Amino acid sequence: MNHLIAPSILSADFANLGRDIELINKSEADWIHVDVMDGRFVPNISFGLPVIQAIRPIAEKLMDVHLMIVEPDHLLTDFAKAGADSITVHFEACTHLHRSIQQIKSLGCEAGVALNPHMPIHMLNDIIVDLDVVCLMSVNPGFGGQSFIENTLNRIAELKELILRKNSKALIEIDGGVKPGNASELVEKGANVLVAGSSVFKAEDPLQAIHSLKHLKP
Ligand code: DX5
Ligand code: ZN
Repeated sequence: MNHLIAPSILSADFANLGRDIELINKSEADWIHVDVMDGRFVPNISFGLPVIQAIRPIAEKLMDVHLMIVEPDHLLTDFAKAGADSITVHFEACTHLHRSIQQIKSLGCEAGVALNPHMPIHMLNDIIVDLDVVCLMSVNPGFGGQSFIENTLNRIAELKELILRKNSKALIEIDGGVKPGNASELVEKGANVLVAGSSVFKAEDPLQAIHSLKHLKP
């Protein structure tokens, strides 16, 4: 498959959020990545349900909600109602991960699991067949604009091997420090979805930045 681009609105201009959503609408982006942070699972607070509700009517791309929150289970219904198309929970935040994933699916959303950079890939052995997305964190979650952790390249290869071995349909999403300089290598290794925050919204021309990530040169 061709890889997908998911600009992260964490790096958008919050005072002009509607304008930046329109920019994603008219870009070659495939998804819109929405980072929810609670100040507990990660050391930062971003935004939550009211913001997602507000952007849902204008956002035309698939809304990929990345929950960096503790105990997400009691809020999954609310995020689905707010308009999430895909909901990703953190492996490290879910005591009953299988139940959380089934709940996300029962709400009619795609189900994803994110792994922090230290979390071994094989922890997904017995859940991979149930997943639509695996989000490999290529930075420690909490902030945009951090440097890409190089070991992610080895992790993509290992995850791809697991997905093939278990005959899973899960997409490999890479989140953190993605930029034109490393995107080709990520896709070559097996990444299906590239999340990009600062390399899109801090670029002089965000539409061009999305175009460059979509049309990679080897
Ligand atoms: C980090 C978030 C990312 C973030 C990526 O905790 O999950 O989605 O927005 O930002 P960049 O692309 O700037 O590293
Ligand atoms: Zn994210």
